[in-house]
Parts: sequence; C-alpha cells; structure tokens
Amino acid sequence: MRRCFELARLGLGMTRTNPIVGAVVVHNDRIIGEGYHHEFGGPHAEVNAIRSVKDPLLLKQSTLYCSLEPCSHHGKTPPCSMLISQKGIRRVVVSNLDPFPSVNGQGIRQLEESGIEVETGCLEEEGLHLNRRFFHYINYKRPYVILKWAQTADGFIDLEREPGDQEGPRWISEEVCRTLVHKWRSEESAIMVGTNTVLTDNPRLNTRRWTGGNPVRITLDRRGRLTNSAHILDGTQDTIVFTGVQRNYSGKIRTVHADPSYELVDVMEELYDQQIISVFVEGGAQMHNSFLASGLWDEARVFTGKMSFSQGVKAPEINEKPDELFNIGDSKLEVFRNRDSTLHGS
Ligand SMILES: NC(=O)c1ccc[n+]([C@@H]2O[C@H](COP(=O)([O-])OP(=O)(O)OC[C@H]3O[C@@H](n4cnc5c(N)ncnc54)[C@H](OP(=O)(O)O)[C@@H]3O)[C@@H](O)[C@H]2O)c1
Repeated sequence: MRRCFELARLGLGMTRTNPIVGAVVVHNDRIIGEGYHHEFGGPHAEVNAIRSVKDPLLLKQSTLYCSLEPCSHHGKTPPCSMLISQKGIRRVVVSNLDPFPSVNGQGIRQLEESGIEVETGCLEEEGLHLNRRFFHYINYKRPYVILKWAQTADGFIDLEREPGDQEGPRWISEEVCRTLVHKWRSEESAIMVGTNTVLTDNPRLNTRRWTGGNPVRITLDRRGRLTNSAHILDGTQDTIVFTGVQRNYSGKIRTVHADPSYELVDVMEELYDQQIISVFVEGGAQMHNSFLASGLWDEARVFTGKMSFSQGVKAPEINEKPDELFNIGDSKLEVFRNRDSTLHGS
C-alpha cells in the first residue's frame, strides 16, 4: 500500500478535482504491475496498473492494491470495478473508501457481488492524509487551506515598505526554500494573497522553479485598490479577483463582486462552487491573521530564517507546538495542523 501512496503522489496537482490514486498488482509477493491516476479525465490508477502487467494470465492469481476504493460508475471512464472483475482478479485491498456520493461503498459492494475478496482500511490514516485536500473538499464543502510565510529569527515577515517600492522584498529564506515553495504552488488548485502584498511586492504567483501547472491566482480587493500594473492582473493565468468595484479585465480573469462586508467564509463558499479544492495562502500578515482568527485554515508551513530585522511587519503567531519540524539549509521549517479546522466546514 505504501508503494500505492508513492505512485499516487506523482499525480499531485494534476488530477484535481479528482483524488490522487495509486495501484499495484501483486503476484506471489512480487509487484508485477503498477499505475497511478496521471491527470483529470485520464485513466484511473487501477486501469494503468492492470494494463502494465506483461502476462495478463497472472491476473487471475493476483491481488490488486488500491489507495482508494475503485469506482463503480460511468464517469469520464468506465467503472474500474467492472474491469477488475472482467480480468478475473480474486482479491482487492483498499486503503480508503471514496466519499464521492456516486461511489461511497458501491465500488466495494460491486466487487464483493462479483465474488471478489475485498479488504478495506489498510493504512487508512496515511491514506486519509495523502488525499486530505480531496476528502476535505468533499466532506466539508470548502477548499483545504494551507498558510505559508517566511519570518526572521526575531519574528518579522518584511520591513515596513510602501506600495510601489522599487527595491522589492528582502528575502528571508534561502533559494532552496523558494524552490520548495514553487513545488508547493504546483500542488495546489489556487494561490491567494492580500491586497497589500500585491501592491508592495507585485508577485507573479506562478510556478517558475518547478514543473507542473500554475495555480489559480486569487486576491480579495474589496476597496478596488489594485491597478492594472499588477502582474496578477496581466490576464495570462487563471485569476479570480474578489472586488468591490466594477472593473473589466481582459484575459483569464474572472471577477466576483465583493462588498466591504465580504469575508473569508464567503470567499470559501465561492471557491467551493468554482471547484477549487485547495488554496495556498502566501500572505501577508493581515491575510494570514484573518485566516487564523476565523479558523478557516488546515495547515501552516512557516520558514524561520537566520536574519533579524528588529522592526517591520510582525509575523502571525500560532501558539502551539509544530506537528513537524525540518531543517532546510540554514532555515527551519515548522508545519502546524489545525485540529479544529473541520468544525468550520458546513
Ligand atoms: N515573508 C513572507 O512570507 C511574506 C509573504 C507575503 C507578504 N509579505 C509582506 O507582507 C506585507 C504585506 O502584509 P500586510 O499584512 O500589510 O497585508 P496583506 O495581508 O498582504 O493585505 C491586507 C489587505 O488585504 C485586504 N483584505 C481583504 N480581505 C481581507 C481579509 N479578510 N483579511 C485581511 N486582509 C484582507 C485588505 O485590503 P482592503 O482593506 O483594501 O480590502 C487588507 O488591508 C508586505 O510587506 C509583504 O512584502 C511577506
């Protein structure tokens, strides 16, 4: 099953709004086939794993391991449960049931009705963590939210700077951390920043230092302060602007009317409707603090560099012990998980 999880991870960022899934075919304790779900609309992991087996006659004495329950409905591809029984596979081991309403246990039932032995719940917790974005989106009807910031050793995320500042941000974390951030961008459906960050840093919010797709860019500009010089308004990348003023942008920009009372909970509802399953929030401090105060966050990844600023924009604070701690170059990376986050789902 751990090999299924490794394979599934190869599809991260490419399958949304589908889950990531890996599958292996085992014959006499040897893996003879493996596959994963590469992209939305493409063949499922089970299909790729079965197709990869060189001698199909062995399938009848093999076990199929799947990180997620095989589907039972005609979606973009025919049901995997049907293929598995047609191939004569006798045993299937699954980590998680698929919470998607049209599957949700029916895949298992169809396999069992065809006389296949099915075992579920194998490494269940690890499977739930692997597909946390998907499970969260389906079960709680809001995107999975990951906060990320870099802070100095004395707790600042930037010096105080004015909009349009020509010098640009002082980098707190090292090159390797910035590359990691681009990898993370490629894994999420959307990326969001506050208006001040757009005005002071003018970020592009794309995936330049890693392979993979660009997330949808999002900002909440309730007072209509953004100008057309903002890179995120250049129309080259899918972008959603929540805005309090009527504006006509060209290119791949959608606007959503947001009056001054528009809050993050409203943003989350809209993003759910727009099938955004995860949001990577890259600051600044006010935006992070709003997410932290509302409880509408699930994970926070905080880099702490070696330098000190003595003064500036104060970093947000999470008064808990991190769940994970890594050293990356000279920086420290702490990962926090919000154990109450599901209380805020609908
Ligand atoms: N080190 C890092 O990781 C990092 C990352 C990003 C940014 N930064 C730095 O952070 C600084 C900007 O941070 P900041 O705290 O001043 O501003 P910010 O969080 O980027 O933007 C805050 C603005 O966003 C708008 N907004 C709309 N809805 C909001 C909501 N629900 N909650 C919070 N804000 C909302 C508000 O503008 P309206 O009142 O116009 O609606 C608010 O003033 C810059 O210096 C930037 O370089 C550092």
